[in-house]
Amino acid sequence: MTTGNSGGGCVKKDKENGVIRSVITGCGSYLPARVMKNQDFEGIVETSDEWIVQRTGIRQRHIAAEGETTADLGENAARAALADAGVAVDDIDLIILATSTPNNTFPATAVEIQSRLGMHHGAAFDSQAVCSGFVFALTTADQYIRTGFARRILVIGSETFSRILDWTDRTTCVLFGDGAGAVVVEAAEEAGTIADRGILTAHLRSDGSHKSKLYVDGGPSTTGTVGHLRMEGREVFRHATGMIADVIEAAFAATGLSSDDIDWFVPHQANKRIIDSSARKLGIAPEKVVVTVDRHGNTSAASIPLALCEAVRDGRIKRGDLVLLEAMGGGFTWGSVLLRW
Ligand code: ACO
Repeated sequence: MTTGNSGGGCVKKDKENGVIRSVITGCGSYLPARVMKNQDFEGIVETSDEWIVQRTGIRQRHIAAEGETTADLGENAARAALADAGVAVDDIDLIILATSTPNNTFPATAVEIQSRLGMHHGAAFDSQAVCSGFVFALTTADQYIRTGFARRILVIGSETFSRILDWTDRTTCVLFGDGAGAVVVEAAEEAGTIADRGILTAHLRSDGSHKSKLYVDGGPSTTGTVGHLRMEGREVFRHATGMIADVIEAAFAATGLSSDDIDWFVPHQANKRIIDSSARKLGIAPEKVVVTVDRHGNTSAASIPLALCEAVRDGRIKRGDLVLLEAMGGGFTWGSVLLRW
């Protein structure tokens, strides 16, 4: 699935000559207080700091406190994003939460966050594409904005993966962490060229034939339990760089832009080796790559907004910069969003 244009303007016309773009006007993030370092695993499973750092680049991750939920993390990130955008909740039309670790099977955790924010108008729903969740949710928000269905959307990625890990399985439990990130996306009238602010193009893909390589072995309609994450890590790794390159090349083809034009590459943070090899393959210079996996681990749908917000907050990403987001995850699902900040 492909959205956006090639710089020529095939998106919905707003005024006579312009187009509607989805511009990120604020971002916020939240990490649970508890930090778990690699060394802390040494008494839990047979592993070592050296193995984890060498294979993944991860040094630590944050773990939600007992009773601290995906809704708690997401609410904190959402409030920070609203404050950063200078927007009141009354001005939000829609909330989309990307998560694979909802508070309950239903209702959607987005609805819980909506209620906690004191929002009784509009709508809220969850979107589920595992580690590609934020890219899928942001692309969905872009569609609603460009069609005029909504003018201001809160997009949240929030996860408590610590709750679905098998803490006796060293091949998976060392890889993931908890956290949340959120952005406010607003409609803006732009000229319809690649110089516009906002989302220029987005590309989504999935292929369910890879289900068995990365999945959770439980669910309401199968076991009646929540289940645990299972992954054939080597198989995921084998497919990751090709799938990532596929959606990034699609973004370049759609816009006529190239890796030389990119100011910041904000990939899903699963593994430093995957990030490095993707950047190398695409010719993106290492100093343009935003990396948080060393401190956050893999926070699934939260990883991109966490990394994005960090780079905005510390002044790396500035207005007018060209920012490339990409993710690949369970399903498999994969996608890219190319935007001008
Ligand atoms: N500590 C010590 N040894 C370990 C650990 C550990 N934590 N985990 C595995 N090992 C061992 C294995 O048992 C194996 O031992 P053996 O050779 O005696 O059998 C050895 O290390 C090598 O195992 P591999 O799985 O081949 O290691 P690899 O180099 O592939 O690294 C990893 C594993 C890090 C999981 C890697 O494959 C990877 O990152 N895969 C991609 C994961 C990913 O990106 N997921 C993203 C999507 S996540 C989502 O969508 C939810």
